[in-house]
Order: sequence, then structure tokens, then C-alpha cells
Amino acid sequence: MTYRIAPSILSADFARLGEELQDVIAAGADVVHFDVMDNHYVPNLTVGPLVCAAIRPLIKTPIDVHLMVKPVDRIIPAFAKAGANIISFHPEASEHVDRTIAFIKEHGCKAGLVFNPATPLHHLDHVLDKLDLVLIMSVNPGFAGQTFISEALNKLRAARKRIAGSGRDIWLEVDGGVKTDNIADIARAGADTFVAGSAIFGTADYKATISAMRAALAKVPKN
Ligand code: DX5
Ligand code: ZN
Repeated sequence: MTYRIAPSILSADFARLGEELQDVIAAGADVVHFDVMDNHYVPNLTVGPLVCAAIRPLIKTPIDVHLMVKPVDRIIPAFAKAGANIISFHPEASEHVDRTIAFIKEHGCKAGLVFNPATPLHHLDHVLDKLDLVLIMSVNPGFAGQTFISEALNKLRAARKRIAGSGRDIWLEVDGGVKTDNIADIARAGADTFVAGSAIFGTADYKATISAMRAALAKVPKN
């Protein structure tokens, strides 16, 4: 199992975003998680394609855009143009989930579907074979620094089974409340890609924090 650490921009110092991302990448981050909030689908407002385009030339690391935006389709081309590698969306934010997945791929990006804590996994039916990533929210979307909802572990186990059944290389990402002290349990439940905002950017030494997360992951039995 390849594990990936994905720091979320949400907890970075936005006044120095480029530098912050270069710092976490130098500290060992594998993916940049780019949270986009619209103050409509979620009760917070962050940044859009202009900021994604501004950071793109500074880093080579994949940018994983998490769209918390409704409606979702019309913003997708701008993020593809801004250099996003993966674009994920919530099924509740799309009138036609299959069409949105196809639209993301037509624009040259990998496609992910995101599950809120109360969103059932049956939304994977009929589309799993088209997805590159499944993202399980372990908090309600909108804010960094919330507490991990433990029911997400059951959902990760169920999602992992579905992914294994598909036989495809689909990333299983988890987002919300991931810390050094719970990351191993979350990995045991099946996650391979770990978004962490406050747990990384809230610490002084990003390298020490990411190394501690990797050390915890190294103890998880391989399956
Ligand atoms: C929440 C966002 C998360 C958030 C995670 O809506 O999607 O990516 O930044 O922050 P932490 O890791 O602090 O829970
Ligand atoms: Zn996110």
C-alpha cells in the first residue's frame, strides 16, 4: 500500500501560500489538497482557479482540488486550465454525477467523488469504474480543525471493499480531523491518502510532523 500525505491549504498562512506549499513539499508532502468553498454549498469561502494558477508554477506536486461548490460543472474548466491534477466533487452538488465525472476527464484531470458524513456510499454504484479517487469526509465540510467523526472508519472499510472489488487503482482519501495520533487507525480502515490541515500547518516543524505521520503509518500491517 502506498500512503500519501496531503496537506490542506485551508490551514496554511494565505498571505504566504506559495512559500507554505514549498515548505510542506520539502517536508515530505505527496499531494497538495486545495479546498474550494463557495459560501453556498458550505458555510465558508476560500479561493478559486486564480489562486490555483498562481501556485501551479511554484510546485511539481499533484494538486488535488476539493470542490465544495454548487453548481459544480461550470467551474471545472477553469480549474483544469489552472493546472489541477485531480478534481473531486460532492454528488449533492451535481445534477448529473456521471456527466460531471466525464466532464472532469474530458478536461484532462482525474476525477474524484466526495462523501459527506451522512452521504451513503450507494452513490458509487454505476460510477466507481470511472473514478480515480473516492474521498470520505470525516468531518462536515466547511472548516479546518474539527474533530474526526469515528463512523468514517466504517465507511472507509466499506469503500475499501468496493475499491478492491473493482480491481482498479482508485485512491481512497480521508479528509477532516486526521492527526498523527489517529492516522494509523484510519490507515487500518483502508485509507491510503490522508488530508491534514491543522495537524500539519498548526505545528512549527512540518518535517517533524509529516515524519511522525509516516512513522505511525509504517507500523500498519500491509494487506
Ligand atoms: C474541510 C476541508 C478539509 C480541512 C481539513 O471542509 O475539506 O480539507 O481543511 O482540516 P483539518 O485537517 O484541520 O480537519
Ligand atoms: Zn478538503
